[in-house]
Amino acid sequence: MTTIVNVVGARPQFIKAGPVSKALERAGVDELLVHTGQHYDAPMSDQIMRDVGLRQPDANLGVGSASHAVQTAKILEGVERYLFDNEAEAVLTYGDTNSTIATALAATKLGVFTAHVEAGLRSFNRMMPEEVNRVATDHISDLLFAPTHTAMEHLRNEGLGDKSILTGDVMVDALQSIDTRNVELPRWLEKPFYLATIHRAETTDDADRLRAVIDSLRAVDHPVNLLAHPRLQNRIGELGIVDGGSLHIRKPLGYAEMLAGLRASSGLFTDSGGLQKEAFILGVPCVTIRTETEWPETLEGNWNVLAEPGSNLSPLLEREISSTEHHPFGDGHAAERLVSSLLDRI
Ligand code: UD1
Repeated sequence: MTTIVNVVGARPQFIKAGPVSKALERAGVDELLVHTGQHYDAPMSDQIMRDVGLRQPDANLGVGSASHAVQTAKILEGVERYLFDNEAEAVLTYGDTNSTIATALAATKLGVFTAHVEAGLRSFNRMMPEEVNRVATDHISDLLFAPTHTAMEHLRNEGLGDKSILTGDVMVDALQSIDTRNVELPRWLEKPFYLATIHRAETTDDADRLRAVIDSLRAVDHPVNLLAHPRLQNRIGELGIVDGGSLHIRKPLGYAEMLAGLRASSGLFTDSGGLQKEAFILGVPCVTIRTETEWPETLEGNWNVLAEPGSNLSPLLEREISSTEHHPFGDGHAAERLVSSLLDRI
């Protein structure tokens, strides 16, 4: 039986790996699921894993939080040890986190066939740790699964076209697996409301920038529920930021609750990549509080607009949005396509 090691570690990776894990099972593959432990709080890890139907991992490397170098090094060491102890034909790594690059580096150096899911995304901003992780992972991996035509184009431009396959986005598969009609929303989500998430280091780590973003959210016309990632919770604690104006600071939601909340909301303010897409697919207007996006497809019809941190958000909420029948992220069968291409190659 073919054995494939699936490595996850951070919230968005659990979501991406959910449908792939199910597709591996349907294909009769023996999957070993490894959790690096990069995310460990229940709402960031266990809750999300349950929502997307991921089983208990076969191993948890327990690396926890640390500086980039220390966290990456611990994962590198743990994945290498795991691959030494468990024979596998291939390793799957996801997205752009420190878990992604460390997994690819450990596996490729051991000569284990390495496939990168969600390859080819680029912000062209090397100040983002995620951009460094993506570029490096794409260049060293053996097989690249691109979610969009734009991602394929980036891979071709970097001379990686021969090892790249357009599969569609596994996050569409994950989204379609949740029936949001059966999800009970938290009582504090009373319509009309907006949702917001801010967790990127470039915003949270710069006090002036973060204060400017918070002030702009406070000034929005309806309640804004800011679902605070632990990184943001720590920062707002340090800076003494509290609720005020329209702003309500809340705990992060699970995946199913998040999708149901997004569907019921009047709009989203975010710096997350995944949420920009989820809003687009669910037909929810989004304002991305960043200067660039890895998902330019979401800008179509004005469903998503970019805003400098601190800009006045109210005029952006008045914008014209045109309907679109376009499905740039695929048909919800990306995981099947990806598993079958992987099995063909190994
Ligand atoms: C990571 C990814 C980012 C992704 C995000 C999703 C990298 C470089 N970045 O960023 O691309 O969008 O995950 O959420 O890998 N913390 C906790 N509990 C947890 C996890 C984190 O308290 O379960 C706190 C710690 O203080 C930690 C901080 O959040 O230092 C940042 O966590 P980390 O995993 O380093 O990066 P993220 O910001 O989550």
